Amino acid sequence: MSDFLWGAATSAHQVEGNNVHSDWWEWEKNTKGVVRSGVAADQYRHFAEDFALAKQLGHNAHRISLEWSRLEVEPGKWNERAISHYREVLTALRQEGLTSFVTLHHFTNPQWFATQGGWLARSAPVRFARYAAMAADRFGDLVDFWVTINEPMVYATQSFWRKRWPPQLGSWSALRAAMRYLASGHELAYQALHKQLPEAKVGITKHVIAYVPSDNATWTGRQAAAWQDSWFNHRFIKQTLDSHDFIGVNYYFHQRPQSVSLLPPRLHTQAWQGAVSDMDWPIWPEGLGHALRAMSRYKKPLYVTENGLADAKDTRRPDFIRDHLRVIERAQADGVDVRGYLHWSLLDNFEWDHGFDPRFGLVEVDYATQKRTPRQSAYVYKAIIEQAGG
Ligand code: FCB
Repeated sequence: MSDFLWGAATSAHQVEGNNVHSDWWEWEKNTKGVVRSGVAADQYRHFAEDFALAKQLGHNAHRISLEWSRLEVEPGKWNERAISHYREVLTALRQEGLTSFVTLHHFTNPQWFATQGGWLARSAPVRFARYAAMAADRFGDLVDFWVTINEPMVYATQSFWRKRWPPQLGSWSALRAAMRYLASGHELAYQALHKQLPEAKVGITKHVIAYVPSDNATWTGRQAAAWQDSWFNHRFIKQTLDSHDFIGVNYYFHQRPQSVSLLPPRLHTQAWQGAVSDMDWPIWPEGLGHALRAMSRYKKPLYVTENGLADAKDTRRPDFIRDHLRVIERAQADGVDVRGYLHWSLLDNFEWDHGFDPRFGLVEVDYATQKRTPRQSAYVYKAIIEQAGG
């Protein structure tokens, strides 16, 4: 496993702080009851220290995202200050010897883009591709792996169907439109990156939920599991099949569909009796094996680009990491082409609509002082990396 990539992942809005030109910032400002991201983990200023820490913790890869709203504050105008900032960030990753995964869209948009219809506007894919072309031009020499869009299905369902994230819509037609435009946005961005960087490795990060029918599932329960799997896990990739050089797999949890009731239509799932995270997400490492096998059908290299849990006391994270890595090893032994593992997250950070309570970091952040303190699990992970020889 000596060329295996080991590291952790973050995203701009969750760690940088002060993303004042994004739609999410605007939403935080104007929505009652929503926690504000503020300075977050202040990585905008602490990036060099954070990457040095990742290196000390044994990592050889790292995932960040570029904040589109910093780079394109006004439509079509590139912010040179933001460009040089991100060049410094990417150079720092290089200097630490960390292979970079760089996400272009991780749930946030420039405010102007949102005002002009966001991902429901017909022009959204072209706008996104223009940003990708700029990124290829200005950062292409410093990026190893490009992720166009993080978890398009999560973003689309949370924002356009479940009313959780901006713009908080709950409309089937909006959901379908957003999914269509996200898919073509990905394809156009893929082409824009490859046009300038023919050797670029471009993909998405796909949130995969392991849908495993419960033992006593009814026939309709099983059908529902299959439908969910095909809709949530496979649809986006099937639609964009020719535009992936690799697949990033984000795995957090599974579901056990049991039965379906029709009035009102509802899928019932089996209650989980096992361990859970601080956010009550079931911990089931085997699900990562399901996710990897499911994605292996596309015959692309796979990277686990997110996997982790909220665990403030760090009592479950050490075993969580060990167990999930064992599952990866078993999948590899079965011939699944998994080439890296990026834990979510390097640092405690702003967990979207859940605010700052969930603690996902290998490294604890004291938000009052911005002091970083690695948790025990960070050293457990380091020892595993060393043992694996790289
Ligand atoms: C994923 C997101 C990431 C983080 C984790 C916990 O779905 O991509 O930003 O919030 O969940």
